Amino acid sequence: MAAGADVPCAVVALLVLGSLSAGGDATGPVITGQYTSSAGKVILSCNMSAPHTNIKGHKWMLGDKTLKTEESNSNSYISYTIEGKVEDHSGVYECIYETNPVAKGNVTIEVQPQVVAYKKSEHGNEGDTGVLTCKSPSYPPVDTWTWFKSDQGTIVNGTGRYIIKSTGNKTELRILKLSIEQDTGDYQCNATNLKGPGSATVNLRVRSRLAALWPFLGIVAEVLVLVTIIFIYEKRRKPDEVLDDDDGGSAPLKSNATNHKDKNVRQRNAN
Ligand SMILES: *[C@@H]1O[C@H](CO)[C@@H](O)[C@H](O)[C@H]1NC(C)=O
Ligand SMILES: *[C@@H]1O[C@H](CO)[C@@H](O)[C@H](O)[C@H]1NC(C)=O
Ligand SMILES: *[C@@H]1O[C@H](CO)[C@@H](O)[C@H](O)[C@H]1NC(C)=O
Ligand SMILES: *[C@@H]1O[C@H](CO)[C@@H](O)[C@H](O)[C@H]1NC(C)=O
Repeated sequence: MAAGADVPCAVVALLVLGSLSAGGDATGPVITGQYTSSAGKVILSCNMSAPHTNIKGHKWMLGDKTLKTEESNSNSYISYTIEGKVEDHSGVYECIYETNPVAKGNVTIEVQPQVVAYKKSEHGNEGDTGVLTCKSPSYPPVDTWTWFKSDQGTIVNGTGRYIIKSTGNKTELRILKLSIEQDTGDYQCNATNLKGPGSATVNLRVRSRLAALWPFLGIVAEVLVLVTIIFIYEKRRKPDEVLDDDDGGSAPLKSNATNHKDKNVRQRNAN
């Protein structure tokens, strides 16, 4: 409260409280959780309404991950500070008081989907299947995912060559038989949750099949040239030894082959 200047930009939120004493009896302590965020920090706090006489400590958890543990802190007002933006730290946090029985409260941080593209720029080969992926790590979870292409609007699942697979945090747009003319461009994935929308853009580039083959053809050509050079070199240096290796049976064949190769060599030399 001292930092009055912080207050205007602080997002003061939430409240939810769990009042859980084992057995769920209504007389247990009421724990009020809330958070504030400002200047690159998010501060979560829990306060126990009726101070418990025997608090042996507390811990903060997010899901099944323990964020902080303080033994021998008997305060009924406790806080936990996160460095970073509130958008990146959504979730349902739990403050757990070591009392007997334990008392738990919640601090829920809800944000619009913070959508990220798995890759901002994807490449595909003509004729292959292109796969564009977006995800949102935010809480609450995404209710609906939608894909758009900049020049043609909403992409409907199952139409044309499009297949959309969306599961909670993640969506995948598959484009069958990629075409350079039709599929190159910017795609937008939009997510909507209870707090609103969020989106990201993926750029898809489609390469021609031939372009994908060039490196391979280059290697094949290189190998062929090398083999030919080595072969010619060997042929010219030791023609006698090669001939000596012949044994009678296959002599006619071999000599045919040899004549052939000599001709090749002569032609190459002429070039
Ligand atoms: C915690 O709750 C008690 C009782 O409701 C209240 O008197 C006190 O001001 C609260 N503390 C803070 C820091 O909010
Ligand atoms: C959604 O994202 C959250 C946070 O990254 C993760 O804990 C959760 O397991 C994800 N849910 C699904 C269904 O993938
Ligand atoms: C899109 O259609 C496919 C096949 O028809 C289906 O398996 C998939 O669940 C659908 N995706 C969405 C997001 O409805
Ligand atoms: C897609 O997301 C953007 C940015 O969040 C939003 O402005 C736009 O309205 C969304 N489009 C639709 C059709 O929901």
